[in-house]
Amino acid sequence: MDVEAKSKNESKNTSRYEVLLEMKNISKNFGAVKALKRVDFNLYYNEVVGLVGDNGAGKSTLIKIITGALTPDEGEIYFEGKRINISSPEESRELGIGVMYQDLALVDSMDIVSNVFLGKPLTINIFGGMIKLLDRKKMQSECWRILQELDINFDSLRRKTKTLSGGQRKAVAIGRALYWKAKLVIMDEPTAALGVKETRKVLGLIKSLKEKGISVIFISHNLQEIFSTVDRIVVLRRGELGGIRKTSETNPDEIIKLMVG
Ligand SMILES: Nc1ncnc2c1ncn2[C@@H]1O[C@H](COP(=O)(O)OP(=O)(O)O)[C@@H](O)[C@H]1O
Ligand SMILES: [Mg+2]
Repeated sequence: MDVEAKSKNESKNTSRYEVLLEMKNISKNFGAVKALKRVDFNLYYNEVVGLVGDNGAGKSTLIKIITGALTPDEGEIYFEGKRINISSPEESRELGIGVMYQDLALVDSMDIVSNVFLGKPLTINIFGGMIKLLDRKKMQSECWRILQELDINFDSLRRKTKTLSGGQRKAVAIGRALYWKAKLVIMDEPTAALGVKETRKVLGLIKSLKEKGISVIFISHNLQEIFSTVDRIVVLRRGELGGIRKTSETNPDEIIKLMVG
């Protein structure tokens, strides 16, 4: 991981202690497709931001850049005041970033527990840390606890994720985003294709993360969900920043206008 001290000339009115994540001037092309064009994005400590935009606006690309799943062509990212360059999911977990990808990114040949702790398994140190053993028992109990909060039933945590239903697979991917040292949790369309009851659970979960002091980036197409859950709304429009509004100072009509231009 390439971590270097943040330059002193950051903007004067944003204290480095208030901003958890700062993205500056982020661009990403896929061949001829300009997925992101010089996008700036800030997230404060203990803040829930709703990231909205039409299909193809660049939402998933932006969050993949935060987690290191994609590398930007241009731009800088700061996390807790430090310039970062994340190149693997392990590194982003190490920093305290938990993510649920839109495509879930489960390893289908592995079981539920292994998927939830992918890239950051719990271990027991023995011989003063010289040897680390997988703490399978602790992972199992933590996994039950996390999945219970989502209220989606599983008969066994040893099941391979390829055998699960759509709702169960989604719960596993959300569970992975929620590991215990997270400072930032990112959820890319966690409620898409979920039932009313499960959706309510997910929205409640986002609120409880905020109560624990964790910041959340929540992507959804459902503006009712966005308005009932987030502090601030960031709109992407065809790869560009369409606008930023405090939820209390805007309304769905304005957000739709910002989305479609
Ligand atoms: N891996 C990829 N290869 C080529 N094009 C991509 C890839 N990922 C995304 N894109 C394109 O980039 C644009 C933004 O996509 P995406 O970030 O998934 O949008 P959103 O999540 O807002 O729907 C779209 O035009 C999409 O087709
Ligand atoms: Mg997407």
